[in-house]
Formats: sequence, C-alpha cells, structure tokens
Amino acid sequence: MNSKLYIETYGCQMNFSDSEIVGAILEHNKCTLIKDVEQADIILINTCSIRENAENRIFHRLENLRHLKKKNPLLIIGVIGCMAERMKDDLIAKEPIVNIIAGPDSYRDLPKMIEMVKVSGQAVETLLSEEETYGEIMPVRIDSNGVSAFISIMRGCENYCSYCVVPYTRGKERSRDPETIVNEATYLFNHGYKEITLLGQNVNSYHWECADGKMINFSSLIALVAKVSPTLRVRFSTSHPKDFSDELIDTIASYDNICNFIHLPMQSGSTAVLKKMNRKYTREWYLDRINAIKTRIPDCGLSTDIIAGFCGETEEDHQQTLSMMKEVGYDSAFMFKYSERPGTLAQRHFPNDVPEDVKSRRLEEIIDLQQQSSLENNKKDVGKVFEVLVEGETKRSDKQLFGCNSQNKVIIFDRAEIKAGDYVNVKVVDCTAATLMGEIVS
Ligand code: 5AD
Ligand code: SF4
Repeated sequence: MNSKLYIETYGCQMNFSDSEIVGAILEHNKCTLIKDVEQADIILINTCSIRENAENRIFHRLENLRHLKKKNPLLIIGVIGCMAERMKDDLIAKEPIVNIIAGPDSYRDLPKMIEMVKVSGQAVETLLSEEETYGEIMPVRIDSNGVSAFISIMRGCENYCSYCVVPYTRGKERSRDPETIVNEATYLFNHGYKEITLLGQNVNSYHWECADGKMINFSSLIALVAKVSPTLRVRFSTSHPKDFSDELIDTIASYDNICNFIHLPMQSGSTAVLKKMNRKYTREWYLDRINAIKTRIPDCGLSTDIIAGFCGETEEDHQQTLSMMKEVGYDSAFMFKYSERPGTLAQRHFPNDVPEDVKSRRLEEIIDLQQQSSLENNKKDVGKVFEVLVEGETKRSDKQLFGCNSQNKVIIFDRAEIKAGDYVNVKVVDCTAATLMGEIVS
C-alpha cells in the first residue's frame, strides 16, 4: 500500500529544490505526496541551520507534531537536511518522536530508511558525499505555479565564510553534469514552464570537465540553458562576488532571456569585516563588480545579503555598510543579525562581542535605508513599460494578476484575458517599496 508523504520545507531555495528531489525519490518508492499534514503516514521536515532562530523554529514545530504521533503511533517523522547533519546527536537524545535523521547527501537512502524504521523504530544517516548531485533525478514539483521552477546545478560549498555553517552541513562543492541540467530545463519548458532559476550555494564557481576535456564554466552553462528557448527566462542564485567575472556579465548582457537581475551578497561594506568574514574580496573589489554590471547591463536589478553586528564590527564598519548600500542602491536585500553558529571559524576564533541591542539597532538602520532605496528605485520605474511573465492571481483579489519583470520586481495589474505563463507588456503607474502597480499596454 502507498504511504501518504508530507514534506515541510524551511530555509533557502536549495532546500525547496531538495524537497522536490526527496519527493521524486519517494514517489518512485510507493509514496504519494499529500498537502494535509494530519493525513500523513510519513512527515519529513527539511531543515535549515543558517541562523539559530531557524533551528529554534524547527524544535518548536517538532513540539507541535507531538499530538499527531500520539494519535498515530505508527506515524514516521523525519528530520532531513542541514539540522539533521549538524544536530544528529541532539535530535536522537532530545526528540524521541523523530524516527529518521537524514543529512543532505542521504536522500537516496530514504526508502531504505523508512523500511528500517518499520522494523527498528529509527534510522540515522548523515554521511556527506564528495560526488552526490542527484544529477539524473527529475524532481517532482511541489507547490508549483506551473510557470517557474528551480534547477539545482551544484551542491555544497568550500568557501568557508567564517560565519557560515553551510560547508559543514552540505559538504564539499560539486557540480552537476550539464547534460542533465539542460535536459531538465528542456523537460520543464516542454511542460509549460517559462522560467527557471539555476541554484547553488555559489553558482559562479560551477565547473564541469566533459569527456573530451572541454571545460564548462557557469557562463557556458547559463548560455546552454538560455538556448533551450528564447521564451524561457533564466535566473540564477546565489553568486559570490569573488567569482563574478566579466565573461559572466557579458553572457547575461548578450541573451535577452537571461534575466537582468543579480543577487550579489555583500555581507558588509567594511574591508576589515570582510577580511574577518573570510569573504576574499574588499569593498573596492565589490564596487568594481557592481560598476562592471551597471556599465554592461544598465537596467540590471540588484539585490544583496547583509549581516549586521558580526564579531568585532565597529560603528565605523557599520557606517561603511550603510554607505556601500547608498552607493550601490539595491532594489532589495535580505538583512540579518549575526547569529553565532557552532563549529564555524568565527565561533572558534572571534568573540561574538557586538551586544544584542547594538546588533538590533544596526539592523534597523540597514532595513530603514533599504526601504528608502527600494522605494526610490521603484519610483524611477513609474512610466516605464516592462515585459511581465504572468504568475497568477494576487492573494488579495482574483480581479488582479501579478508577475515579475526581468529585474525580478513584482508587478500587479488588472485581470485580462491572459493566463499564468503568458508574457504581457505592463506600464508602471504607481508603486510602493515592495511592489509596482501597472496597466497592460498591449
Ligand atoms: N548569521 C547571520 N546571517 C548569516 N548568513 C549566513 N550565515 C549567517 C549567520 N551565521 C546569511 C548570509 C548569507 C545568507 C544566506 O544568510 O548573509 O548570504
Ligand atoms: Fe556560506 Fe559563504 Fe558558502 Fe554562502 S558562500 S554558503 S555564505 S560559506
């Protein structure tokens, strides 16, 4: 008999993409994905360890699942992903309701682990691999809008940014066979998808050596994917500034369907802090990359990640972050307070010495500035016409549709005889800091 499987995902896009791989593996092994947690025979929680509060949320969620286990003692609960990798022993000791603990490279073994649980009550696997890319697995699409999808192109990270737990939870960096990536993009396009996002912890260090010795780097890969169809939009995330080459910028500029949007995490605007973070670039290097992007792709949308209150960050360092934000003028940003992660270089070598209230105040200043910058940039878009890929109805009203322009900005407009997956030209007539409002022009 088929088991009813419910997967709940926390954290980054990589995790959502991983859940789709897990779904595919288990659907091939007598499981059916369902959307109602109460009905499940198996619940898998795909977890994130990037900040402490991400982990706290998962512990809280496990508390909430206790009642289901009471109701159905045969219910199998699994913790998979980064927290499984990092907190295996704690989970075994403190969370008796957890039957499966599977790290990010153990997903192929989940069918076997489920069988083991039925016999012995528990299965644990957290060995990291140097090769696993789940390359040939065609993910099932979970909660898909049928228009945009993620394609994972590489796994792991070896940058060892000093604050970051990812190299420890996701292991060594490895790239996926480009043929399987292009096949997946083609398959998605043939099934009506119009936008794909190539995913990896550090996509621009993608590299693959073909059988004939030819090397494929990220610029060549993204060009290969863009050639699948001129009506298939291509995005990518995340890039590391140190690897952001002129070649890649030129490739983005030369394909209309590679979106003019770049997420380039700066983390800090202070060279001293960047050095401590082991980011391997300076403020000047980062700004040089931004200038190269702005020169070659003048209408490029820009977003970033910023950490407030890293170890030893002075008021002057913080001011440098604010001034860098002003200089770049990001359209959007993900902004965080520094959260010390066990085992990282920073945790081992630097005191977490910026007081909590100072971290909070600095983060607030960063968020306020970003709000202003987003609003200013959006105001500049009023009057412009953008090609929008329609994604569906807005949450608020079935009389309004929304989609994104190439720059990754959400545009809302009145319903017309069009459907999700269509391209329409929309003229922006108004905006907030978060959204553009427009009218269809043709
Ligand atoms: N504390 C706060 N933010 C972090 N990030 C990564 N590790 C930490 C940490 N320990 C942020 C970085 C990264 C994003 C995915 O999460 O900005 O780019
Ligand atoms: Fe973490 Fe740095 Fe790797 Fe990103 S690049 S996952 S911040 S170590």
